[in-house]
Amino acid sequence: MLYGADYNPDQWPEEVWDEDVRLMREAGVNVVSLGIFAWSRIQPAEGVWDFAWLDTVIGKLHAGGIRVNLATATASPPPWVSAQYPETLPADESGASYWPGSRQHFAPSSPTYRRLAGELVRRLAERYVDHPAVAMWHVGNEFGCHLWMDFSDAARDAYRDWLGRRYGTVEALNAAWGTSFWSQRYARFDEIFPPRLAPYSHNPSSMLDWRRFTSDMLLECYLMEREILLAAGATQPITTNFMGPFKPADYAAWAPHMDVIADDCYPDPTNPHRIRDAAFQRDLVRSLKPGVPWILMEQATDAVNWRPWNPGKRPGVLAAETAQSVGRGADGIMFFQWRQSRAGSEKFHSAMLPHAGTGTATWRSVTDLGERLGALPELPPPGRDARVALVFDWENWWAVEERDHPVEIDYLALCLEWYGALHSRGLMVDIVPPEKVDDGYDLAIAPALYLLRDEGAASLTRFVGDGGTLLAGPFTDIVDGHDQFRSGGFLTQLGPVLGVRFEDFGALGGPTTGGTGVGAQAARASADGDRAPFRLGHVEATGSLVAELVHPVEADVVASFTDGRAAGSPAVTRHAFGAGEGWYVATMPDPVGLDAIVGAVVEASGVRPVVANLPAGVEAARRGDLVTVINHGDDEVVVTLAGTDAETGAPLGRTTLPAQGVLFAWAPIDSGPSPMPTSVDDSVATPA
Ligand code: GLA
Repeated sequence: MLYGADYNPDQWPEEVWDEDVRLMREAGVNVVSLGIFAWSRIQPAEGVWDFAWLDTVIGKLHAGGIRVNLATATASPPPWVSAQYPETLPADESGASYWPGSRQHFAPSSPTYRRLAGELVRRLAERYVDHPAVAMWHVGNEFGCHLWMDFSDAARDAYRDWLGRRYGTVEALNAAWGTSFWSQRYARFDEIFPPRLAPYSHNPSSMLDWRRFTSDMLLECYLMEREILLAAGATQPITTNFMGPFKPADYAAWAPHMDVIADDCYPDPTNPHRIRDAAFQRDLVRSLKPGVPWILMEQATDAVNWRPWNPGKRPGVLAAETAQSVGRGADGIMFFQWRQSRAGSEKFHSAMLPHAGTGTATWRSVTDLGERLGALPELPPPGRDARVALVFDWENWWAVEERDHPVEIDYLALCLEWYGALHSRGLMVDIVPPEKVDDGYDLAIAPALYLLRDEGAASLTRFVGDGGTLLAGPFTDIVDGHDQFRSGGFLTQLGPVLGVRFEDFGALGGPTTGGTGVGAQAARASADGDRAPFRLGHVEATGSLVAELVHPVEADVVASFTDGRAAGSPAVTRHAFGAGEGWYVATMPDPVGLDAIVGAVVEASGVRPVVANLPAGVEAARRGDLVTVINHGDDEVVVTLAGTDAETGAPLGRTTLPAQGVLFAWAPIDSGPSPMPTSVDDSVATPA
């Protein structure tokens, strides 16, 4: 288990470094990410290099038995780069420059930036590639974090080249973008600009390519550095830190180029869905590289500095959040940062070693955590533990949130709601693009999969044909990979699987329709046609966003709208297809409806929770034979679980978990005839 933090000794005088290593050892630290923002210290001017300080620091860490995740230091170019090479600066959509003075002020597609960054990486690699302390390479930092898009001239030129490579001919591009519309037909690639400030909507197909290009430019920067490291003989794992569901970078496309997935996660203490959202993020990053443990590269020991309000963590929360990562596949727990900064924008951000020193609750909690993690037995790699797939797709995210649609969709929020109904049932869930849905799963849920590539449609169809249960909708299977309608209307790919014909979207009024304020919203809700209630068994639920008009061709109607414009038409359908079933939901259900629908498909598919009957606020996750149970609540609970305590070896039975308490248990999957591979044999958890 890796345990450590970002280490920025370049912010401190040399006298502090010995104390750092001594205290790191005391805290159980065995690895640090070194020098992520040290470019100006390593190369204070063009042609001037200073590695002496870095040699000293690495030497001290090595002597102390602390391994180094050596940063390539390319995330914040020094002042001389911006002053001498203004072409490295990025631009906003009006073409105005972003200026230096913060960090990440580089245009990812700038050849000059890449040349200068590449030179730095080459020097670092050649000097340290064989150093015994260097255990891993940390490329850049949170690519794209602050600057979601760059509209500079460097981007313009690179975009034209990228489009040329993608389409070959400008005719192919015109067809893919549908440029007959609004006189947008191009004669040459060099007539194309980034989607800079325009009077009205940009061509949506071009926006999709622009998003792909933006993700690719960031990835190219990573790959450029990776190739330099490999050329210098690096044999250590190479990675960069992801940010969970981060819209600008398609991490599913990046993952094959990472030796290990690293992720930064800062749950917001004020978010009522903090546990659900963090679980989603951890499941997402685990699913990017099945079978390979990931690293939590950054979390905060306590408060952050960058939200408008920054409360700290309540006692025990750090350990509980950490266990959520371990239980969901992490083999490394690291923080931003080791020693709290004395100056700069992040001087209020917590660290392992706070300003107030070692006589603090923070220090006690990080040393306790280090000791506990250090004593854990070797953990199995996260495998195919989930029988449920939540379909989540970056290209769809980009396309479904484009403007000029029937309704405004917040794709991530929607996916989190569907995920929440699975998480609250204690189910293990993988989060994957449609192409990755295979017969390793029993149930797949695809919310608002508006853009459905041919390959994705084929794999979902195969999945159901082979016996899987698919729940789709609403706003699914509407356009192809160019954001164009296919001929034949909508649900052209999944229609046969779902057994329905789709007629219209039935957009409902949104929260801003007809003015703002509570009165306006109430008036809207009661306005004719904007209500979408439906009944599922005994459950009275309401839909929002859309009440789509679908016709059952072969499907059974499970629930119908009882009022509003869609009254009488199906809200939920179910259809036997091949050896499996396709379900369709024609609206975005409220929490009660969502829970009832997810309950129905869970039952139909036979998937089982990791641990049955857990009290509210208690979650469990499986990685191989390890089951991690966490009590996120404020009251003590009693959990009854078959297995042994992975920390003490003691047999388990009724176990008391205090508030924020964590139990790591060995509880192998039932190898008997049960068709429920995610259930713990005979395990029942009961509330206190
Ligand atoms: C990000 C960055 C770090 C630091 C932290 C603060 O994760 O990678 O350099 O700024 O945020 O939370």
